[in-house]
Amino acid sequence: MKSFYNAERISDNVWWVGAVDWSVRNFHGYLTGRGTTYNAFLIIDEKITLIDTVKKPFFDEMMERISTVIDPEKIDYIISNHAEPDHSGALTDAIAAIKPEKVFASAMGAKTLKAYYGIDVDVASGPLSLGTGDLTFVETKMLHWPDSMVSFYDRDGVLFSQDAFGQHLAGSKLWADEYDPSILEYEMSKYYANIINAQSSKILALLDSLPVLNLPIRIIAPDHGPLFRKDFDQVFAAYRRYAEQKPQKRAVVVFSTMWHATEKLARAFADGVRSAQVEVEIIDLAVSERSEVMTAVARSGLVAFGAPTMNNQMFPAMADVLTYIKGLKPLNKIGFAFGSCGWSGEGAKQITAELEAMKFDLPIAFIQSKYMPTGEELQKAFDAGVELAEKLKNNI
Ligand code: FEO
Repeated sequence: MKSFYNAERISDNVWWVGAVDWSVRNFHGYLTGRGTTYNAFLIIDEKITLIDTVKKPFFDEMMERISTVIDPEKIDYIISNHAEPDHSGALTDAIAAIKPEKVFASAMGAKTLKAYYGIDVDVASGPLSLGTGDLTFVETKMLHWPDSMVSFYDRDGVLFSQDAFGQHLAGSKLWADEYDPSILEYEMSKYYANIINAQSSKILALLDSLPVLNLPIRIIAPDHGPLFRKDFDQVFAAYRRYAEQKPQKRAVVVFSTMWHATEKLARAFADGVRSAQVEVEIIDLAVSERSEVMTAVARSGLVAFGAPTMNNQMFPAMADVLTYIKGLKPLNKIGFAFGSCGWSGEGAKQITAELEAMKFDLPIAFIQSKYMPTGEELQKAFDAGVELAEKLKNNI
């Protein structure tokens, strides 16, 4: 039967043979509002090589795309750049169908694939001759997992960068320059904030090492979203900007509320920020989720969090978000905590402790109302917004 899944050629010897996941909306807790792709690549050289596979349910789609170029059993090598199951989920099925001569991963990748699937693979050391071109491997530990590495096919100048420079963005176009730049930038920055941000120092080291490696890159081929065939300086500059985390003249106010008391404080604070001519966004956790919050936090130099107290704890939605954000290690933020309570009032104190643990600058003590904020408390929240917005402007 004719395949409707075709491969797409990206260079003389390299084909895209991945899968498009139009439906996914929850990627281990990350809201993927535009779906994603799981990119895999086929190198047709004297040694035919498959770079990465796809998430397990998309195995057939990948194999059909491969089959439009070559009999899959002719594949000699499979390279696993990253063992997370969105790229390795179809690996055991692929090995069974293809019977490759060798499968390569980094040293940590070999251990991870053994732990996940009980399979033994070879450790990639380089360069690996494919015939007319070589594959070289650069370990990128913790970008995104300890096993991660990137591969470079020198004949066609293709950098297979696995998660790095990716976006969760499903589409029928292959190249980044075919997408609306504002959508691409948003999804790239969201991906960075939610997947990569915790390893920003390693990203800076990688960016610094790229000129040293002197790779004649003609294509950057990440494992998610569209590929880059030009404007590499802009791609690297965007990643450097994300990684440096310099304060931006922008604020976000994140709140949970039970009976609108904390919400009133959030709005008063935000109005203070606005009156100081700083752009501000309010995020209500009743209708938003954690990856949206982290995306906004990454873009904002001033971040405020407010929640009520419930059963002697901060409201659970806020605890979820703060735990998530803390793990992603945002830097260089002015912070502010606020909340409301009926009696015991632990919420705003606990938020303050979380912001302190993230080393945010907290120039103003938290504001917490009993039951409903008074006019005086709302004024204090407004004034706090003005003061912190002015401080932010002075910091930039
Ligand atoms: Fe796309 Fe870390 O996996």
